[in-house]
Amino acid sequence: MDGNGRWAKLQGRGVNYGHRAGVRAIKRVMYACDDLGIPNLSLYAFSTENWSRSRREVGGLMRLFEETVRKEFDELHERGIRVFISGRREGLSPHLVGMLEDAQVRTRDNRKGTLNVCLNYGGRAELVDAARRLVAEGVAPEAIDERAIADRLYIPELPDPDLIIRTANESRLSNFLLWQSAYAEFYVSPTLWPDFAKPDLEAAVAEFQTRERRFGGRSGPA
Ligand code: IPE
Ligand code: MG
Repeated sequence: MDGNGRWAKLQGRGVNYGHRAGVRAIKRVMYACDDLGIPNLSLYAFSTENWSRSRREVGGLMRLFEETVRKEFDELHERGIRVFISGRREGLSPHLVGMLEDAQVRTRDNRKGTLNVCLNYGGRAELVDAARRLVAEGVAPEAIDERAIADRLYIPELPDPDLIIRTANESRLSNFLLWQSAYAEFYVSPTLWPDFAKPDLEAAVAEFQTRERRFGGRSGPA
């Protein structure tokens, strides 16, 4: 989700105003996913690098995360969505961590779809954490294969993403789902995240449907 700051600037407002508009876009996109039959949605909400932003912006984002969980959780739960939170807990307030853990536990048996919120998330940090777990568990070097690593990612239950959408015209992965995105299709949308809506998602999905996915294989006669 990119472009909140640029969107706010266009309105002559501060960046936190843009982040608030970004939350409204999340709600729209979740409904659009439901309509389009997309069961699993991951959102990159805050990266391990985002701490370098101003105290004011980081503080505003943290308050917004708490407020959003408080206001939106019941509806998510009622809709049968299972919530996952990917990322490091360190650095987040104990209050927020408690809310996030609670959201994960309370929605554990929901089966209608999943929402994976990547918060204080970095793809490299996730791989470092997986390596630490392998060592801590005493896994022998010869026993380490792709499955062994995949099983130690933050949310091993989630399938790899089919499609990664980046908004606001940026064409970088920026440390998002590095392991899981190995064969994901990548789509760059010019729309700033707060303006992102169902037609933008439909455009991304339509483009995705034209892609030929070979997963390293060859299509047609060699
Ligand atoms: C959203 O957009 C990023 C986060 C969710 C932290 P930005 O804040 O990066 O927006 P731009 O790049 O300044 O427009
Ligand atoms: Mg940005």
